[in-house]
Amino acid sequence: MMKTEVILSALIVLAILAESESQKFGQLCSNNRFNKIRGWDKFGQGRHGAPRSGGRKHSGVDVICSDGAAVYAPFDVKINSRSIPYSDPKKKAINDGLNLSGAGLCFNLWYVKPVKYSGVVKKGQRLGTMMPMQTVYPGITSHLHLQLCNKYDPTRYLR
Ligand SMILES: *[C@@H]1O[C@H](CO)[C@@H](O)[C@H](O)[C@H]1NC(C)=O
Repeated sequence: MMKTEVILSALIVLAILAESESQKFGQLCSNNRFNKIRGWDKFGQGRHGAPRSGGRKHSGVDVICSDGAAVYAPFDVKINSRSIPYSDPKKKAINDGLNLSGAGLCFNLWYVKPVKYSGVVKKGQRLGTMMPMQTVYPGITSHLHLQLCNKYDPTRYLR
């Protein structure tokens, strides 16, 4: 290869690395420093693709978060809209969330009581509060549900 081609290739690789690094999620929940994903509990498991009732598959990833914990912006984000998980009134206690954009990703975050429903939030600033999931699913590993708008697997952005 010519020298300029080698340099160009190296620059492209660096640009790709920088892009993927910028899409890494910072800490989402105050008591889960490394965005650890929910394992097995009596209600199922938190990984993307895990089985759900009615033959459905889990289209997001569950990030462990204790009831009442602070929820942070994982990078600079824009709040697109409110995002409401359920229609079932029995789940009212955890039925809130946000649709967000940032770092080239569009995603929904559920079971968080937002501080606000529009505007921007800087990385590490508070988006809201983890809702009382134990009141709806006693014994579950309380968690935020993180789901990309295209429903692809977000796991690689968490680790
Ligand atoms: C989230 O908001 C974006 C931007 O407004 C929109 O395109 C997308 O359809 C919304 N996605 C979901 C799953 O709510």
